[in-house]
Amino acid sequence: MINSFILSLALILAVPTLHNGELWPDTGGKHINAHGGNIIQYGGKYYWYGENRPDRGYTTEVGVEVYSSTDLCHWTDEGVALSVSETPGSDIERGCIMERPKVVYNPRTKRFVMLFHLELKGRGYEAARVAFAESESPTGPFRFIRSTRLHAGKWPFDYTTKQIEAARQTDAAKWKDWWTPEWRAETEKGMYLWRDFKGGQMSRDMTVFIDTDGKAYHITSSQENLTLLVSELTDDFLDFTGKYNTIAPGGQNEAPCIFKHDGRYWLICSGCTGWEPNEARMFTSTSIWGPWTQLPSPFQGTSSYRGFTAKKTFGGQGTYILSFSSEADPTAPTACIAPPAGMANVPQFVFMADIWNPRHLSQSLHLWLPIDFGADGTPVIRWTEKVFIQ
Ligand code: GAL
Repeated sequence: MINSFILSLALILAVPTLHNGELWPDTGGKHINAHGGNIIQYGGKYYWYGENRPDRGYTTEVGVEVYSSTDLCHWTDEGVALSVSETPGSDIERGCIMERPKVVYNPRTKRFVMLFHLELKGRGYEAARVAFAESESPTGPFRFIRSTRLHAGKWPFDYTTKQIEAARQTDAAKWKDWWTPEWRAETEKGMYLWRDFKGGQMSRDMTVFIDTDGKAYHITSSQENLTLLVSELTDDFLDFTGKYNTIAPGGQNEAPCIFKHDGRYWLICSGCTGWEPNEARMFTSTSIWGPWTQLPSPFQGTSSYRGFTAKKTFGGQGTYILSFSSEADPTAPTACIAPPAGMANVPQFVFMADIWNPRHLSQSLHLWLPIDFGADGTPVIRWTEKVFIQ
């Protein structure tokens, strides 16, 4: 009796309550340095991948870090999943920028595939490439495969002849002044799509989504961050099939996060204000290829974090939507997550975001908020202070 009491007490004390907007220690007591990333479930564990950011500066000095957990609360640092290269001239040479890594498991090839946003060393954000890496083990080491722009010489599959003709008439070199109504009209005709047609489309903030039929899609901020592209990946997830189209042309959306619920796709993005938080945007569709309808931001409530209200995504910028499939997957690890106040059930989806700290990027905080649904099935996200409550 006394023994079991002591045991339960020890267990309770061993479970750290993670608070949004505070440092999150790993099992070694260090703040989790995995930003802009994602979480997968594999073999009874969760794996969390993210940008290992330096304390000062914004270039990548280490690579992509991976942590493991059996319960989403205790995270063990498993080290560097994908390391920068020491070879001068390598695409991933130390000092490049690796952002927004997303790892997915491919059951056909039994490999873990990582896609990420890559900027080449010394070239700021102009390279705007997507990169691929793979590994046989969830903790790596991942092998870098290649980095590339997207869809060189290909139009979106649903572009009409009229749209193609209009895009061909544009000339980005003529427009030194941005944001004028004339410039906007040209961008809507596909000016940047045409500018990059030969060399390939830009790819910056990105995510990867595996649909219920096992097909994988890459969603990325393209055309000078003005327009999102959704692209189908090949069956091995290591390349693009060439089928792609646009989402919200000219809408300036970044940090795409997507999930599917009751046959409907929900896409939650941020606006483009760098490390500064802004108001989230939400889109929905019954097909990954659209048409997408824009809805108001799902962030609601009167709470705020350091003065950032729901209007500013509580200070965060989305990185991934974690969905739990514990009922369908008997090997799924357990989560020490409980329904937050006001929610009847343990949330099925959790919105993961970064509260960026540009002066000390490694200290950027994590923000995990459960996704609730309104009476009409629309996602609603409110502030919760405690992430996990036993
Ligand atoms: C943000 C973007 C981040 C990073 C940053 C650089 O808008 O979401 O991933 O690229 O800009 O300023």
